[in-house]
Order: sequence, then C-alpha cells, then structure tokens
Amino acid sequence: ATPDLVDSFGRVARDLRISLTEKCSLRCVYCMPAEGLPAIPRERLLTPPEIARLVGIGVRELGIRDIRFTGGEPLLRADLAEIIRRSAHEADGVPLSLTTNGIGLDKRVRALRDAGLTRINISLDTIDREHFARLTRRDRLPAVLAGIRAAHEAGLTPLKINAVLLRDTLAGAGDLLAWALSTGSRLRFIEQMPLDADGTWSRDELVSAQDLLEVLGRRFDLVPVGRHDPSAPAEEWAVRGYEVDGAPATVGIIASVTRPFCADCDRTRVTAEGSVRSCLFGDDETDLRELLREGADDEAIADRWRAAMWVKQPGHGMDRADFVRPLTSMGAIGG
Ligand code: GTP
Ligand code: 5AD
Ligand code: SF4
Repeated sequence: ATPDLVDSFGRVARDLRISLTEKCSLRCVYCMPAEGLPAIPRERLLTPPEIARLVGIGVRELGIRDIRFTGGEPLLRADLAEIIRRSAHEADGVPLSLTTNGIGLDKRVRALRDAGLTRINISLDTIDREHFARLTRRDRLPAVLAGIRAAHEAGLTPLKINAVLLRDTLAGAGDLLAWALSTGSRLRFIEQMPLDADGTWSRDELVSAQDLLEVLGRRFDLVPVGRHDPSAPAEEWAVRGYEVDGAPATVGIIASVTRPFCADCDRTRVTAEGSVRSCLFGDDETDLRELLREGADDEAIADRWRAAMWVKQPGHGMDRADFVRPLTSMGAIGG
C-alpha cells in the first residue's frame, strides 16, 4: 500500500487545509448567509491537541507538505495560538499558514508568529469602504487594513491578499492592485464559485478572469508568467514597471470556474468537526474525530484518511450540464 493520500485518478494530496470554526466576523455575500451559520456545539469542535495530532499523522504518515488553517474565521478561536504552537511541534518543519479576514489580527499577529505561524493570506475584495460594507455586510474595512499593516510589521511575508471578483467591485480592481503593490502585498483575484449560502450564484453573472484582465489592462501592462507550480491555484502575471521587495511585481488570478485546475489538485481538507472532505465540492465527509476520541492509533486514523481520499471525485464539474452545487457553503468548508 502507498503511504500517501492518493485518489483513484492518481492525484496525491500534499496540501492539508484544516477549518477551525464556521463562525465569522464578516458575512460576505458569496460565502455566508446574513444570519451566519448555525453554531457547532463546542464539544464537537476539534481541540488543539486533536488538531495537532492530525497534523502529526498527516506529516509523518501521509506525506503532507503544506498546512493551512482556514474557517470561517480562524481568529475567532481564542485558542488559535495554542493550536499553532501544538501543531508546529508536530509539523516537523512543514510550513503552517493561515487564511483570515484580518480583523483582530493587529493584536495577535506577533503571538501567532511566535507560536510558529509561517505565512498569512488575507481576504480583501475592495478598498472602497462602502463597497466593503455592502459585500461583507459589516463596516469593518479599517480593522482589516490594520490587520494587514500589522502582519507586514511582524514580518509574515510574502503576504498574499485574496480578492473574490464581483460585478460590484470589478471597477475598483485597479485601485485594489495599485494599493496592494504600494504595500508590498501579493494580490490574487479569485473567480467566484457556487459556494454561497443563498444559492444565488449564476454563471451568467460570473466575473471571469477575462473580464478582469480587460479592466486591469487599461491601467497596467501585464505579462503572463504561468504558475509557480502545477498544483498552485493561481496563474501569475508580471506587472511591468512595478517591483515588490526588489523583485518584479506580480498579480495572480485563480480562475477556478473558467480554467479549472482539478486535474492537478493536491488538497485534502479537514472540517472544524474533524471530518475529511476530499474536495471543496461534493458533500462526502469521513469522520476522524470519533477515532481520535476512541483512542485509535495513528495507523488506524491514517488508514481512514487514505480511504476518504481514494474516492475523491475528478473535479467540481461546473462545466457539465448535470452539475449539482454542494449543500455546504464556503464558510463551513473553509476556502
Ligand atoms: P497559498 O499556499 O498561499 O497559495 O494558498 P492557497 O491559494 O492554497 O489558499 P487560500 O486559502 O489563500 O485560497 C485562495 C483561494 O483559492 C480560495 O479562496 C479558493 O477560492 C481557491 N481555492 C482554494 N482551494 C481550492 C480548491 O481546492 N479548489 C478550488 N477550485 N479552488 C480553491
Ligand atoms: N468563491 C471563491 N472564493 C471564495 N471565498 C469564499 N467564498 C468564495 C466563493 N464562493 C474565499 C474567501 C477567502 C478564501 C478562504 O475563500 O474570499 O479568500
Ligand atoms: Fe480540488 Fe475539488 Fe477544488 Fe477541483 S474543486 S481543485 S478537485 S478541491
């Protein structure tokens, strides 16, 4: 038997994404319902030692080479620094990163860095305060900007900014890029996927990579430079005439809808409740928490994890007529 997380199509998962909570301090329209998601009872959330145990099994038994904490909003876990510290202890040098909306990061970023966090991606779709308030349903742009500044000051770089593309904010994409370049952040635009809670996504409304390139092309001179590695979601463009940290500046585009990269997918996901999800799409979940709490050994947990990944579907199938969107919204899967 192969020790790695392999699926029946021959893909190998080396990138582990662990969701820490479904709670969030924002309510982005493409991710969460206005009222938020139903709270998970505390005893069903993985604890810091349980998370660290899965990290250890992933790294030692299953070939995991990159670990990211997501949510919901991971900063809403008061025990986040402890989760990172315990995970770093088990991770054997494998990088630990965080995807966050940045709110409250200014007060905690140094503690997280000292606990062993290596990198941060911050979600920010617009630097227009009114647009921000409309699409996140909260007027918190200044708090996000404070978080981004603090992350730079703490030296958690390269800092990436994720911006989901929306009709409402497309015209501001150039301003967002100019701002990102001025702060030395690496901006990536993301095509919106059908993972909103309200079920309003439609292909006709999609703002595509092509639409974005047209808008940015009016203001910037962009030259395609491809992907960092085949399984990286973002394709990169060099921004002529700009530098970040002495290197030519780039902007990334994650075209999950119009240029799917599922054939090279290397992800495995664990939900806040400790279930493996083999794909963002597809509602199959395989519980590991029960094994953890029954006192199962590492091998038994690794075996169930392998079995969960073996059945991974070929891709999201958004381009097929029989595409069915998953029941779970992004906030509950963890980006
Ligand atoms: P880096 O390691 O910094 O490149 O992070 P990342 O891009 O893997 O993670 P991040 O959480 O910043 O995710 C960026 C965006 O990529 C997400 O918001 C999703 O929209 C998209 N994305 C992440 N994982 C997947 C995936 O498995 N499938 C698809 N289709 N899109 C994904
Ligand atoms: N489509 C694409 N990206 C999404 N995100 C949240 N919902 C969606 C969606 N429907 C992004 C967030 C964050 C990351 C974790 O996922 O903006 O950057
Ligand atoms: Fe991987 Fe599924 Fe995302 Fe495609 S949709 S890249 S298969 S997780």
